[in-house]
Amino acid sequence: MAINYDQAVAFYDETRGYREGVVERYRDALLAHTGADPSARILEMGIGSGLIARAFLRARRDYYGIDLSLGMMRLIGGKLEDSRRPLLAQADCAKLPFAAASFDLVHAVRVFHHLADWRDCIDEARRLLRDGGALVIVENLPPAAAEPPPWAVVQEKWDQILRCLGVGDDGIRHGIWLTDEAMSQYIASTGARADSVELLRYVEKPVSARVMVERRVAGMFSSDWRLPASTRRDAARQLVDWLERECEAPDVLVEREMTFRALFARW
Ligand SMILES: C[S@@+](CC[C@H](N)C(=O)[O-])C[C@H]1O[C@@H](n2cnc3c(N)ncnc32)[C@H](O)[C@@H]1O
Repeated sequence: MAINYDQAVAFYDETRGYREGVVERYRDALLAHTGADPSARILEMGIGSGLIARAFLRARRDYYGIDLSLGMMRLIGGKLEDSRRPLLAQADCAKLPFAAASFDLVHAVRVFHHLADWRDCIDEARRLLRDGGALVIVENLPPAAAEPPPWAVVQEKWDQILRCLGVGDDGIRHGIWLTDEAMSQYIASTGARADSVELLRYVEKPVSARVMVERRVAGMFSSDWRLPASTRRDAARQLVDWLERECEAPDVLVEREMTFRALFARW
């Protein structure tokens, strides 16, 4: 079952957006690393609301995007001013409406951890790539060995509450992450070279424990969307109770350092 981001349209940009200049740095690092020339045709799998696409379109790149969520893609137009428009399609990453060998670069940012059929999606990206092209799977992850920010305790508390309410590991953490060996092993098994690279570090917008609790309670995290409504309600009540009674410094704003970590596959 796919995760439907239509329900995130009202709050996605506000809660998942980057600080000024971060996406442009990602674009430049990605293009430098792949050596893509200015005429390269680029596909973004899971383009969402265009937070990433915007930087490529401002640089007048030949850019295509697909997503399951029409609602998210409708937010793209409002970000573009007079820039070039991307060619968009509502489609599943595992079955893309493009001819074989039609792209030089396929990338997906914060998408693969949602994909139960991620192997099919890698195969599909491979089908679309021209000789010498690259698939780049990207997630925003904390730097190795980073201290978790004070509000990360909210996440731990939430997981603990869910466990006490009988939610198993599958209900708490979905999907495959770049850091899971299985992904690079699968890429290698298809005959590709798989390289894991930290493309850049950046600083997130500041957040406090209270803000994180409010976002949990409001159902803004996709990992919670499949929980039964009654479980979510009970867990939210307990989390608020914990914030009021036990959380230290609930209103301290913290800026966390994060990375764009990428897995490059070239066949
Ligand atoms: C966390 S958002 C990331 C959006 C954008 N890449 C960004 O970084 O802001 C995940 C996006 O993946 C899309 N998505 C999830 N599963 C998908 C699938 N199987 N095929 C296409 N899009 C999918 C969702 O609709 C959502 O827009």
